[in-house]
Amino acid sequence: MKMKMNQAAFTRPLILLSLCLLLRAEQRPEQRPEQRPEQRPEQRPEQRPEQRPEDGGGWSLNSDVRLEDDGRCDVDVLDASSLSYQQFLERYAYSRPVVLRALTNNTNFRLLCSKWTLLQEYGGRTVRLSTANTYSYRKVDVSFQEYVDVFLKPQSTEVLGNDTLYFFGDNNMSEWQSLFQNYVSPPYVLPLTSAAYSFGIAGPGTGVPFHWHGPGFSEVIYGRKRWFLSPPDKEPHFHPNHTTLSWLRDIYPSLPEDEAPLDCTIRPGEVLYFPDRWWHATLNLDTSVFISTFLG
Ligand SMILES: *[C@@H]1O[C@H](CO)[C@@H](O)[C@H](O)[C@H]1NC(C)=O
Ligand SMILES: *[C@@H]1O[C@H](CO)[C@@H](O)[C@H](O)[C@H]1NC(C)=O
Ligand SMILES: *[C@@H]1O[C@H](CO)[C@@H](O)[C@H](O)[C@H]1NC(C)=O
Ligand SMILES: *[C@@H]1O[C@H](CO)[C@@H](O)[C@H](O)[C@H]1NC(C)=O
Repeated sequence: MKMKMNQAAFTRPLILLSLCLLLRAEQRPEQRPEQRPEQRPEQRPEQRPEQRPEDGGGWSLNSDVRLEDDGRCDVDVLDASSLSYQQFLERYAYSRPVVLRALTNNTNFRLLCSKWTLLQEYGGRTVRLSTANTYSYRKVDVSFQEYVDVFLKPQSTEVLGNDTLYFFGDNNMSEWQSLFQNYVSPPYVLPLTSAAYSFGIAGPGTGVPFHWHGPGFSEVIYGRKRWFLSPPDKEPHFHPNHTTLSWLRDIYPSLPEDEAPLDCTIRPGEVLYFPDRWWHATLNLDTSVFISTFLG
């Protein structure tokens, strides 16, 4: 109990600092890329830039806001080589989340997902945006190029989730199939299920508030994604139309220890497994490229 409080006291200033940075960035509209395109040659490069995995694929710019994760992870993190498929089934598949390192090698897929390559290949294809609330009501179709130019930006803390358009899944499989066929999906598929992909790209501070569905895996290709998870019988305290970012600011810091969800941030090279019907909320800490594999 004491340790938990110390951690909370330590992490709260970090969260507040992150929010201040985010707000400051949003109060300076002259820095928004779409308003100064002539100063941001990296937005539409003429020449293929050199590609290094650690540079975020060109998605995360140095000038971007980035949120801090709080450094802890309440979920088991294991090297995939130390957990056999049988052990995965016995210890995690039906009972609790786990983060597995090096379960997949998506070096090639990562190169295909750099900003330059994706815009070149898929700029004219359609993406279906969904509002970022628990029940994701409204859908809007735009070209991928328009999504990147107009919609891809940090989440504002003032805007409600049901008024935020977010690209996470709802992928038109015929238009995006040629990309997804290069994704190496997690080999630990549950018996009697098959896999369906959900691919997205979104700015820092975006995410989906608490919801649940069937089991699956989530991997970030670029950027970091913070996860909050609660077992099926422990519905978290949240408002379905508020963003994860506002939940993190308004509700998370005052939760009693026994009501706090598990908390873990995943990075490229890590895969998070979420069991059937576990509540979860996500928060992209950077401009992140991510893909989930739903098992159903
Ligand atoms: C991952 O795949 C890349 C490209 O195929 C290869 O060069 C690299 O050695 C692989 N990494 C590991 C750890 O297997
Ligand atoms: C979003 O949700 C809020 C509160 O739940 C509601 O007042 C508002 O009308 C909703 N906005 C839209 C566009 O439906
Ligand atoms: C997917 O894209 C194809 C080709 O552009 C289009 O004909 C089809 O209607 C789209 N499907 C959905 C569900 O939007
Ligand atoms: C959430 O937003 C939706 C659509 O924007 C609205 O229909 C619904 O009533 C809102 N829910 C709550 C609990 O405010």
